Amino acid sequence: MTPQEESGAISVPPTLGAAWVKVVRAWRAADLDYGHGCASAEDEAAWLVLHVAGLPATEAEHWEAHADHPLTVQQAQQIEEVTAQRIATRQPLAYLLGEAWLAGLRFVVDPRVIVPRSFIAELLAEGALDPWLTEPPRRVLDMCTGSGCLAILAALIWEEAEVDAGDLSPQALAVAAINRENYALEQRLRLIASDLWDALAADAAHTYDLILCNPPYVPTASMQTLPEEYRHEPEMALAGGADGMELVRRFLQGAPAHLCDHGVVVLEVGNERAAFESAFPSLPAIWLETELHAEAVCVLLANDLRKAFVA
Ligand SMILES: C[S@@+](CC[C@H](N)C(=O)[O-])C[C@H]1O[C@@H](n2cnc3c(N)ncnc32)[C@H](O)[C@@H]1O
Repeated sequence: MTPQEESGAISVPPTLGAAWVKVVRAWRAADLDYGHGCASAEDEAAWLVLHVAGLPATEAEHWEAHADHPLTVQQAQQIEEVTAQRIATRQPLAYLLGEAWLAGLRFVVDPRVIVPRSFIAELLAEGALDPWLTEPPRRVLDMCTGSGCLAILAALIWEEAEVDAGDLSPQALAVAAINRENYALEQRLRLIASDLWDALAADAAHTYDLILCNPPYVPTASMQTLPEEYRHEPEMALAGGADGMELVRRFLQGAPAHLCDHGVVVLEVGNERAAFESAFPSLPAIWLETELHAEAVCVLLANDLRKAFVA
């Protein structure tokens, strides 16, 4: 860095690398939380500087290759402003930038939806669900779709599939509609306003081969201790009742009526595997490992769900 850059004064347009150093220093000193798609101040700073420079966040892992990229004075100022806003408001960076990245895809987000970060995305993108699918799914449901991220990912992976995406929040569905349009999926992705299964037909013609669900699962006690960043997200996207399993319970009870015989449920419960096992002690769940978590997501088979929930 030049002495001017080191001192923090922007008298000449800095490089992307110098801006990154300043952001990291400021954010580290402010002790922010990084649970919204980035694991550290370094990762999040890379996303910010790339975004402002007009480079894709998919380059974040290799941001150093762009370290000498020159920034305009306006870009440098914008980075400073967002850096300060992130500290002052503790909003997730995704809300400040109006975008989130998941499995290499960009999604429009704002405080009407939770910031996309589901572990299911990695499993979808890497084909990790294939061993449980007898053939490419023709009908997919993404229950609790939020921004529509998982539904869109599924629709892009299985190009022949009809995908339904349900959510109780009209605000979330409005954001999902923007993302659906951005990926030109209006013909194959149906957005459904529904309190879990309430608005979904349960006849044989409407069953699903694959049901994805990343429901709210944070137990009430944990809701009280969440870092400030999470308080900017819709509470209904996080709060899962006393044991975290309130929505999961209703979801699993209703699932058998909406699954094909060979159907598969992929359910995310984050850090709540113990709560899940204590709520459903005899339900066989196959836990799938992802890069950052060994037991946040499980696969449940239609036959096992029927045995557990259908008298
Ligand atoms: C953890 S977020 C998941 C969003 C998205 N699938 C993702 O992975 O980013 C949970 C979503 O469930 C929705 N939700 C909460 N209660 C619901 C209910 N009773 N029926 C349907 N959706 C509900 C929330 O609005 C929120 O969008």
